[in-house]
Amino acid sequence: MQALRMTWDFVEGNPFSSSTGNFTGQIEYFTKVIDVACSAFVGGNAEHADAQSQAISTNKVISTDPPYYDNVPYADLSDFFYVWLRRSLRPVLPALFATLAVPKSEELVAFAYRHKGKAEAEAFFLNGMTQAMRKLVSQSHPGFPVTIYYAFRQSEKEGDGGAASTGWETFLAAVIDAGFSISGTWPARTEYTSHLKTTRSALASSIVLVCRPRAADAPTATRREFVSALKAELPDALRHLQAGNIAPVDLAQAAIGPGMAVFTRYAKVLDAEGKPLPVREALALINQTLDEALAEQEGDFDADSRWALAWFDQNGFAEGEYGVAETLSKAKNTSVGGMVEAGILESKRGKVRLLKPEELPEDWNPATDARLTTWETVHHLVRVLDAGEAAAADLVAKLGSKAEPARDLAYRLYNLCERKKRAAEALAYNALVQSWPEIMRLAQEVASTQPSQAELF
Ligand SMILES: C[S@@+](CC[C@H](N)C(=O)[O-])C[C@H]1O[C@@H](n2cnc3c(N)ncnc32)[C@H](O)[C@@H]1O
Repeated sequence: MQALRMTWDFVEGNPFSSSTGNFTGQIEYFTKVIDVACSAFVGGNAEHADAQSQAISTNKVISTDPPYYDNVPYADLSDFFYVWLRRSLRPVLPALFATLAVPKSEELVAFAYRHKGKAEAEAFFLNGMTQAMRKLVSQSHPGFPVTIYYAFRQSEKEGDGGAASTGWETFLAAVIDAGFSISGTWPARTEYTSHLKTTRSALASSIVLVCRPRAADAPTATRREFVSALKAELPDALRHLQAGNIAPVDLAQAAIGPGMAVFTRYAKVLDAEGKPLPVREALALINQTLDEALAEQEGDFDADSRWALAWFDQNGFAEGEYGVAETLSKAKNTSVGGMVEAGILESKRGKVRLLKPEELPEDWNPATDARLTTWETVHHLVRVLDAGEAAAADLVAKLGSKAEPARDLAYRLYNLCERKKRAAEALAYNALVQSWPEIMRLAQEVASTQPSQAELF
């Protein structure tokens, strides 16, 4: 949180215990580090240089973690320590502590207070980052790609859905203008999801962009060609990301990679007037195609769940007119009465509403449910997850293979809630996907301790 707090607290580990925290355990950790890490030690070298003019990266394999637009004022924060370190370390490292305070003018961040205004700050970031990226394009070892960590989530600031954001757009424009093409993205689970982060949809992964210098003979494409390539390639990429259990909150950002891989395959994408398509527009098209790909997955759900999704999109858990619900049910090949029976809907006095997770019956048993829907499965899982992953695992063990589509529906529901700014519900669906691997692991344990069908007889 970029804040330093004093906490009057003390450690409660018992050094004589036989479990975690005991004295010999600690010694073991250290010896492991010495054995494993230090035996592979080949020596390192650190140098201080401005990324816009450095030559350190010549013929090197590069992996870099650049500043995130206007996320952290590192130089200002560093002053806090610098003034004290300078007093003691200046005689030892005179070159590093030559200035009175931490250098700020070269720092590649977009802070309006360092410039005349917001527009100037953005231009400074774009030009400087492009210059820094050019150095990487021209100097990096030709046999290896450059990997760039990027973890900026603009929607926390502007609530704009994360993808088409100024921070991303400006950064990507710099990477592309410098002559890189993006050949892949690796979402990496780098952020610790502590309590603070699970109670708001904070970023759970960093995105690693894998970049190579763009081929000199890269072709030009029309907007239409770009869009059809996106439509052909993004659905598979989406499946791949979901199979890796990417947190729904990170999905839009992670999909930028495969989308940008298509965009940067071309030297230029030209619009109908022959003008190059700006990064902002490419990002908007990627986001739109991602939405469509998620919507296409709806085809895999049962009719009741498809009806519920369309209804939820319009009304959330609020009441709506019976007549509208009935018409929609015909389009989705189901009926209001049937869905009331299925246990997902309430229909009274000409009004209809979806049941909230906390309204669902606690004694629900999927084995005896004659009209089991994915919608119901997701919301029962949301309900029991409140009591912990073990409770959700018990339910998944009962559901068996019928649990699997629930994760896909949770992705779709998150996407829908984010678009409609329904933060509380979005959080619940995000939490379900994030807990999924652990729920599945626990469910397998439950299943293996239960007597098999053969043993019962
Ligand atoms: C996201 S942080 C990297 C954090 C690092 N990976 C770590 O775990 O400590 C970005 C870094 O880029 C540095 N930076 C900003 N402008 C720079 C410039 N022009 N040249 C070199 N480094 C710069 C910042 O000081 C900051 O340390």
